Amino acid sequence: MPRDIVAITGASSGIGKEFASRLAPTHDLILIARREERLRALAGEFERAYNTGTEVLVADLSAQDDLDRAAARIENEPRLVLLVNNAGFGTRGRFWEAPLESQQKMHRLHVMATLELTHAALRNMVPRDRGGIINVSSVSAYVRVPGTVSYAATKTWMNTLTEGVYLELRAMRSQVILQALCPGYTYSEFHDRLGVDREELDRRPGFWMTADEVVEASLEGLRRRKLFVIPGWRYRLLAAFLSKLPSGLRLQAEAIGGKLRSGQDEVRSETPKQVKAPE
Ligand SMILES: NC(=O)c1ccc[n+]([C@@H]2O[C@H](COP(=O)([O-])OP(=O)(O)OC[C@H]3O[C@@H](n4cnc5c(N)ncnc54)[C@H](OP(=O)(O)O)[C@@H]3O)[C@@H](O)[C@H]2O)c1
Repeated sequence: MPRDIVAITGASSGIGKEFASRLAPTHDLILIARREERLRALAGEFERAYNTGTEVLVADLSAQDDLDRAAARIENEPRLVLLVNNAGFGTRGRFWEAPLESQQKMHRLHVMATLELTHAALRNMVPRDRGGIINVSSVSAYVRVPGTVSYAATKTWMNTLTEGVYLELRAMRSQVILQALCPGYTYSEFHDRLGVDREELDRRPGFWMTADEVVEASLEGLRRRKLFVIPGWRYRLLAAFLSKLPSGLRLQAEAIGGKLRSGQDEVRSETPKQVKAPE
């Protein structure tokens, strides 16, 4: 019997790759990202180990033609049971100092690609009354700190979209599941691309999680049909605490968080010329 299919964006590394590894033994996969050789290596690995039918879809999801091609594939796949909108990246520097181009690209990837792929998947899943979508957001949707303005804005948008669609589906008693996955600091290539030293990351013991832990929490949340999944009790506590504070106090807490954040000195001292685009 043919297996159900899962489509994963940003499957070439980090959290997306971990979703693929977890699901490969039981599902066929559509792996989406730009680095073709990485995706092909993974596909070969899964095929050899689990006989997984793996399709490699090479796409830059911040480019409209590639995004349309991926959306058409997702909308027309009758065996699709899960879409993981995971592709993403961060930037550093104050909003007006960081290059506009990389922030526009971030909005195209986090917002427009999530919008179009979620729309395509729901047109496929809702009539069949089956399936689910995981939007990989961030704890930054709850904790906005200086130096991460576009990132936090796009991730907050992701949570709002996910919640809105969840309510629409619930109102029609649909079986289709929506999840906003909100990880905190997670070991992956995310911080490598930002030029953050891995040793710098280890200065926050207890706050760093592995992609494995994040994906485990997400899949457990999916089984329990949880709308918001925040892996790690420290982050759940932080998000709950901040969302209960009056806005004045919340802003003070976020300003302190910005000072404590690693790399903050760099954020303060960087001139516009020194802030590099990560992509
Ligand atoms: N790591 C963290 O601390 C953390 C915390 C909270 C949330 N997150 C979120 O988790 C998600 C996954 O990040 P990660 O930590 O796993 O980082 P990662 O290892 O850098 O993975 C990012 C993935 O996104 C893909 N990608 C980036 N730009 C793309 C584009 N234009 N088109 C298609 N694919 C693109 C990359 O593949 P290619 O380069 O091959 O295209 C890669 O597979 C992101 O949405 C991120 O915001 C991460």
